[in-house]
Amino acid sequence: MDISVRRLCKEFDRYPALNGVSLEVGSGELIALLGPSGSGKTTLLRLIAGLEFPTSGSIYFGKEDASQKSVQERNVGFVFQHYALFRHMTVIDNISFGLRVRGRRNRPSDAAIRKRASDLLDLIQLPNVANRFPHQLSGGQRQRVALARALAIEPRVLLLDEPFGALDAKVRKELRRWLRELHERTGHTTIFVTHDQEEAMEMSDRVVVMSQGRIEQVGTPDEIYDRPASPFVFSFIGDSGELAVTIDRGEVFLDGRSLGPLAEGLPDGRARMFLRPHDLEITDDPAGAISGEVATVRRHAATRRIEIAVGEKRQRIEVAVPATRGFVPEGTQTFRPVRCRLFPAN
Ligand SMILES: Nc1ncnc2c1ncn2[C@@H]1O[C@H](COP(=O)(O)OP(=O)(O)OP(=O)(O)O)[C@@H](O)[C@H]1O
Ligand SMILES: [Mg+2]
Repeated sequence: MDISVRRLCKEFDRYPALNGVSLEVGSGELIALLGPSGSGKTTLLRLIAGLEFPTSGSIYFGKEDASQKSVQERNVGFVFQHYALFRHMTVIDNISFGLRVRGRRNRPSDAAIRKRASDLLDLIQLPNVANRFPHQLSGGQRQRVALARALAIEPRVLLLDEPFGALDAKVRKELRRWLRELHERTGHTTIFVTHDQEEAMEMSDRVVVMSQGRIEQVGTPDEIYDRPASPFVFSFIGDSGELAVTIDRGEVFLDGRSLGPLAEGLPDGRARMFLRPHDLEITDDPAGAISGEVATVRRHAATRRIEIAVGEKRQRIEVAVPATRGFVPEGTQTFRPVRCRLFPAN
């Protein structure tokens, strides 16, 4: 099922939580909504689910305008972070619940429901917990059961709001891989919310970056990381540093010193230069390079991060060097951007 979100606005007491959001999700796609707290991710998901209705704009499921339809009519499955399992029901009853409460006409037979629930237990790789109660499961197992419960109704669309939010890093990682594989097997159109960028980048076909009720950029993980469309996306995704520079006929200047012709095609004037730690290299050659005082040195996985205070404003820039390189930088260091990104300042 493909989903088309068209100029969606949602106000809560005049407060615009969503501000004209348009998004096309292809059938079978796995999409991540990523953004800081309060950017409107949950609101967008709840509108797609039918738990909330738009102030204006519309949502299409395929060719159908679903904007005013109920949750049941939309036939979506959802898992919310705090949407707990029913405590007084066994796992199998939890999973069967959505089918059992259907009207008589749409309800499968008892045997069919039991079969479907036990197939789902196999799918979530927990075949032996059918008769346990939620408190007898680990957090990760509970999340998988919640997912099975969402899948039981054979939803056209699966919506997940920070489904792994409360779990520790290792379990999250396992569940991510597991969910990705599950998605490949079942082929449900899936939209999931996270504010963990690693999770978004690693799992999804495309990432939707949101800020203040708007979409900043939609793209594959590579596009989002390598070609961020705005200063917000650049600084939100991955590690980055920023320098205030000026552009004069394609040449970039920092405190009056040329860094070279890095800004071809960009307008003259003040600009913001964004740099990633891995795109900088320490050099001895001062031509076109940037110098500054080493402020701190930290170990970061396989690299050492050298924080350098640059220029008159002592702006902090991080440079990554391999940790195996046995040198402890101090005093003044010079580095060169192998890659950078410039945006006009305004
Ligand atoms: N029912 C509501 N009534 C009033 N304001 C709301 C309501 N729901 C959300 N908001 C506001 O809308 C904005 C977007 O909220 P939303 O829950 O969509 O953010 P989010 O991106 O999911 O954030 P988080 O990462 O913290 O979950 C917030 O400023 C929030 O306070
Ligand atoms: Mg939220």
